[in-house]
Order: sequence, then C-alpha cells, then structure tokens
Amino acid sequence: MSAQLTLALSKGRIFDDTLPLLEAAGIQVLEDPETSRKLILPTSNPLLRVIIVRASDVPTYVQYGAADFGVAGKDVLIEHGGDGLYQPVDLKIAACRMSVAVAQGFDYASAVRQGARLRVATKYVEIARRHFASKGVHVDLIKLYGSMELAPLVGLSDVIVDLVSTGNTLRANHLVEVEQIMDISSRLIVNQAALKLKREFLQPILAAFEAASLNRT
Ligand code: ATP
Ligand code: PRP
Repeated sequence: MSAQLTLALSKGRIFDDTLPLLEAAGIQVLEDPETSRKLILPTSNPLLRVIIVRASDVPTYVQYGAADFGVAGKDVLIEHGGDGLYQPVDLKIAACRMSVAVAQGFDYASAVRQGARLRVATKYVEIARRHFASKGVHVDLIKLYGSMELAPLVGLSDVIVDLVSTGNTLRANHLVEVEQIMDISSRLIVNQAALKLKREFLQPILAAFEAASLNRT
C-alpha cells in the first residue's frame, strides 16, 4: 500500500530533534538523511513517509498539501505567514532566540536614541521589520541568506538580526547581543485539509508528539 501520510522535515537539528518524538509515537525512520541522498524516506509505519526539504520550505510543502504535516521553526513560520496551516503544538525543540547584535564598540543605544537610520542585515526581514517598526526606529533592511555575522565586520550593515543559542558564533566574530526580540522553538504544522480528511491517521501521531513535547517542559 502506498504511504497515506507525508511528514516534511529539514536535515540537521529539526530532523535530529524530531526523531525522539517519532519514537514516542512508535515510529522509526528507516534511512539517515545525512548519509542517504534520498529525499523520500520510508518509516517503520507503512502509512507514513518523511520528505527532506530546506527548513524554510517546510511551510510551503505543508500549505500546498504536498506534505500533510511538518516541523518548522517559529522564525520560519513568521517569515512565511500562516496561510493554510494549523499550528497545534509547540514541540519545544530547536530552541534559541532571535536577537539584535552589533560589532563590539558600536554604540547601539545612542544610535537608537539619536534617531539614526540603521542598516540591518538579516535573513529574517519580516521579524526585523516588525521589531524596529514597534520601536519607531527607521531601518534599511538588507536581505541575506546566511553568515549574517559577517555583515557588520565588513561594513555591510550596522546591526544584524539573527538566531542566538549559546552565543558562540557572536563571540567568535566579536559581536555583542544588544536586544532579544523573541524566543524561538519549532512547531508542528498541519495542512488544514489533511487535518479533516486524514484525521484518523494523523490524530494518534499528533497526540504522541504533543505528549512527548509536554514531557520536555
Ligand atoms: P535553510 O536551510 O532553509 O536556510 P536553516 O539553515 O536556518 O534553514 P537550520 O539551521 O536547520 O536551517 O535551522 C532550523 C531551525 O532551527 C531554524 O528555523 C530555527 O528555528 C532553529 N535554529 C537555528 N539555529 C539554531 C541554534 N543555533 N540553536 C537552536 N535552534 C536553532
Ligand atoms: C545558527 C544561527 C547562528 C548560530 C547561533 O546557525 O544562524 O549563526 O546558529 O548559534 P550559537 O549562538 O549557539 O552559536 P547554524 O548553526 O544553523 O548554521 P547555518 O547558518 O549554516 O544554518
């Protein structure tokens, strides 16, 4: 029988942190995406398959119903927008925070006080736009796709908006965290049509994910 349910995950921390939740639902993924080049992975449940996509593409697959459900960071969900997605559970995995950081020696507080126009480099333009709008700070947003930490060091921007966990990446690049914007963790997202039409298959897995994530508090 062909798979009835498709779960979208990204390689790396989201895949790794979702494995124990799948285990809690009695499901093993039968191939390792770090060693396999396959993008569709079978599981021990013949009704469920996992597809491997970029972290920022997970909401798109779920929104269009190409995946029935997926796991995505709050950052990715805010940037994407929530259309067609049901977000029932904060899985509390891949926890970090979204922050503003500057190069050591840059006086962020007085730049803000003086009403200076700040150049902000970030992958998270929607989160940055909302944050600075709420503070009444005028910004020029510069969209990057990675390695944000470099931008202030080479004069591309005054500040960055990026994810911080241990702070090691900021420290290694002589940057300082000056504002925390929000806490980030990953959410289960479900296609709204699938939730209705495949409820019988989805519900037990969603319940197991929810129970396992409650144990993480
Ligand atoms: P893409 O491949 O689409 O560019 P990405 O490289 O940001 O995405 P990952 O690095 O796998 O993808 O991050 C996936 C999610 O994990 C992020 O959306 C965020 O919610 C969370 N995350 C990112 N960095 C960290 C970190 N250092 N510690 C904990 N969680 C993190
Ligand atoms: C993320 C993020 C930061 C780093 C923060 O990058 O973009 O650079 O983690 O974590 P830290 O505070 O513990 O150093 P990631 O490790 O995902 O690499 P990527 O930019 O290649 O996705």
